[in-house]
Amino acid sequence: MRKHIVAGNWKMNNGLIQTETLISDLKQQVKTSDAEVMIAPAFTNLWHAFQSTRQDDIEVVAQNMHFAENGAYTGEVSPGMLKSIGVKTVILGHSERRAYYNETDESLAKKVDTALEHNMRIIFCFGEELADRKAGNEEAVVERQIKNALFHLGADAFKNIVLAYEPVWAIGTGETASPEQAQDMHAFIRKTLESTYGHTVADDMTILYGGSVKPGNAKEIFGKPDVDGGLIGGASLNAEDFYAIVNAF
Ligand code: 13P
Repeated sequence: MRKHIVAGNWKMNNGLIQTETLISDLKQQVKTSDAEVMIAPAFTNLWHAFQSTRQDDIEVVAQNMHFAENGAYTGEVSPGMLKSIGVKTVILGHSERRAYYNETDESLAKKVDTALEHNMRIIFCFGEELADRKAGNEEAVVERQIKNALFHLGADAFKNIVLAYEPVWAIGTGETASPEQAQDMHAFIRKTLESTYGHTVADDMTILYGGSVKPGNAKEIFGKPDVDGGLIGGASLNAEDFYAIVNAF
């Protein structure tokens, strides 16, 4: 069944004290929508965040992980480590990781496989750059990113995958894709899924939009039929703004 999800990607923000404060602010907020709420703090704060939200309707998710189980990968964190502290969902393929840490469709395919072997849910991010959109190549880029990293999977695997379309030109820029641009791309993504995996996989897939979602534009974007939620950066660092977005459904 397709779900509504609003996930806050905190990126490299908030130390321990700020994490505590933001989580306690989030707990003051009232959820009036049916959206699942997730937050993705930095690795150092995952355990604390997990403990502090145990009784709450907030899932703590990781921003990244390595594709290996363990070994000589200095500075990396494995899926087993995440699972050992209770984290069940991981964001993979964020454009910042693709741009600054050389993540490729191929390395992401490996991460996807390891996460699924660990029964983890994946929020898989992808999206075109401004030059792609200006050249009219946005659909081709998105299709390639999805197919290269995910289309080796069987249909069943998609039950553990959430897709997050984040056009790079809209991330942290204040320039949001228009609701129509988001809808058009989400419909295209669903059609791409349907052509290989059939109607049920496509129809059940939760597809999030990310890129400068704010309290002022969330309702309009979430109002589109193929937009099932959001992956929120900047606005997720403020509890009131974040819940204004959660409650936009
Ligand atoms: P902003 O909401 O700050 O544009 O970030 C979006 C994003 O990258 C979420 O993963």
